[in-house]
Amino acid sequence: MRVGILTGGGDCPGLNAVIRAVTRKGIVHYGFDILGIKNGWLGLIEGKIFPLDLSSISGILPRGGTILGTSRTNPFMVEDGIGRIFSQVEKFELDAIVAIGGEDTLGVAKKLHEKGLRCVGVPKTIDNDLAGTDYTFGFDTAVSIVTEALDRLHTTAEAHHRVMVVEVMGRHAGWIAIEGGLAGGADIILIPEFPFDMGEICGQILKRRERGKLFSIVVVAEGAKPKDANLIIQSSETDSFGHVRLGGIGNIISREIEKCTGIETRVTVLGYIQRGGSPTAFDRILATRFGVAAIDLVKEEKFGFMVGLRCNHVVPVPLEEALAEPKTVDSELYAIAKVFSG
Ligand code: F6P
Repeated sequence: MRVGILTGGGDCPGLNAVIRAVTRKGIVHYGFDILGIKNGWLGLIEGKIFPLDLSSISGILPRGGTILGTSRTNPFMVEDGIGRIFSQVEKFELDAIVAIGGEDTLGVAKKLHEKGLRCVGVPKTIDNDLAGTDYTFGFDTAVSIVTEALDRLHTTAEAHHRVMVVEVMGRHAGWIAIEGGLAGGADIILIPEFPFDMGEICGQILKRRERGKLFSIVVVAEGAKPKDANLIIQSSETDSFGHVRLGGIGNIISREIEKCTGIETRVTVLGYIQRGGSPTAFDRILATRFGVAAIDLVKEEKFGFMVGLRCNHVVPVPLEEALAEPKTVDSELYAIAKVFSG
């Protein structure tokens, strides 16, 4: 069998571990030809496809990013994108595609599968917001980075008696904010799922001061919004999947806190640091398990599925089910975060 593999959407630590596992098991155990597709769906449209061998994957396990490159290309928005994909599949004699990506990339995989392309998905989202899997690789790394940043911000916040606002990733779901915030001992955690009230936040910070705690840490997900306002965006320009660029909520909250409490407040935007660099051991292992399971699905010719982690077992999940709705933070976990605020 000739199997193409691509990575689409935002990168995250662990992508190379998946590529390594798919390639290794595909070549050594199944005798497949594995072909790398450059830059997500764009490379399949343009025919940027090259053979991967064991030397191409040597040493990539700990490396962040993706050796294949990525893009946010939506082939359904490209003129004759789908026709060109099917021509390239024929030209390169691809029997199956392993698509590693989030809701956008896997959404394309699902639609292409419905049109007859034999696709298997591997879930990837730093935000951990894909249904059908308890965790996605990269998320644990991001949470570790946020935790370390909060530990560092604690000492400087304490020294200056300041409020520190920390903006983290999380477009529709606040998983990074809530898990990073809990692990790093944040006082207040603001996430997209539960719109916040500025007056309440200021009240909680002032109450802590009265109790003698002279600094506070506020973690805010980029997609969090006040009860009575819209999302804060950096640019209204959308990508080919219709997403606007978020960012800026940290600065707004920081200004508001300073205004309503009179306490010196600073903001740190962690940004792409959360997505860069080496994966944690957990993410390397999860990505490796996903890669091995994905090529097994190809071998079994079980297309239209992605691999997912459920109760610590890697299982096939229909793409349709995984993409039905995002996985958001539930009120049970949010209630735990609330124990530590106010
Ligand atoms: O979807 C994952 C994510 O990291 C979001 O948290 C963030 O809003 C977005 O990607 C950033 O996208 P880009 O890499 O296109 O700037």
